[in-house]
Amino acid sequence: MLEKIKDMLAEVEALQAKNAEEIESLRIKYLSKKGLITSLMADFRNVPAEQKKEVGMKINELKNRALEKINELRETFGTDDKDECIIDITRTAYPVALGTRHPLSIVKNEIIDIFARLGFSLAEGPEVEDDWHVFSSMNFAEDHPARDMQDTFFVEAHPDIILRTHTSSVQSRVMEKQQPPVRIICPGRVYRNEAVSARAHCFFHQVEGLYVDEDVSFTDLKQVLLLFAREMFGEDTQIRLRPSYFPFTEPSAEMDVSCTLCKGQGCSMCKGSGWLEILGCGMVHPNVLELNGIDSTKYKGYAFGMGIERIANLKYQVKDLRMFSENDVRFLKEFEAAN
Ligand code: PHE
Repeated sequence: MLEKIKDMLAEVEALQAKNAEEIESLRIKYLSKKGLITSLMADFRNVPAEQKKEVGMKINELKNRALEKINELRETFGTDDKDECIIDITRTAYPVALGTRHPLSIVKNEIIDIFARLGFSLAEGPEVEDDWHVFSSMNFAEDHPARDMQDTFFVEAHPDIILRTHTSSVQSRVMEKQQPPVRIICPGRVYRNEAVSARAHCFFHQVEGLYVDEDVSFTDLKQVLLLFAREMFGEDTQIRLRPSYFPFTEPSAEMDVSCTLCKGQGCSMCKGSGWLEILGCGMVHPNVLELNGIDSTKYKGYAFGMGIERIANLKYQVKDLRMFSENDVRFLKEFEAAN
């Protein structure tokens, strides 16, 4: 056995090859499952016990030398062998630099999660929309100022095709296809023609909520929003609703939460008022139900919409909205722990 190993070692030392194919056949000849060295190793069990140690060491030496030799030969041809994919199985797996989730994704997922627990399912719609889904089906009058060139981005040459200005368009997309009960949460990007500054951007993100069923009341809306606020900002969070106006809800309201920084005492973030505005909401206007094929004498609904950047700002006190879209890795890295 020792003789055989010695001879094979000499053979291995003398190996030569002219190209990658020859190297591969040498590898198969010596090192594959049925290769010469592998079968030598299989014979190992017949070696008398007192020789096992020495023979074992020699076989290992032979095998390692053969591997080395094949790699040496490969190196000679390696670089111009484009077909061969060399995988370095000796490379350690860690540490691998991991990316971090974007703060807006973190907050979006948190919002979806809270409403999912309340039975809301996810719905999405297109960002490039038509006037019908964004405005007309949402009960906007023909001359409503929100349709104005100041706010809406139009797709050139198609005055009817626009970038959606709110996720309320997804309400219409879902209702036109689905009869109640409808209970959905719709996250997505929206666009408005505004000058970019620390406090405004030409695109941002919203989450829309819609619930349509028999016997839906304003109390249900208020209770769901209170639960959301407490899940999102902490158990001691208070809410207040102020009357407001949206074409697609009646009555409409804006909701404030007690300041997340000073807990309602008054500070610079809440400008001394103790309250922060976070969303718009209301009972779905009967016209909206009818325009989207739902019988308004039988069904009622509530809807709400909030800006994800706004919620993220309150959670993380990001001073400049532009940080969210600049993708500065130093900023993004700060949210590593929140992943
Ligand atoms: N779409 C409104 C906005 O963009 C928010 C909203 C949604 C208000 C649903 C009421 C109901 O400001």
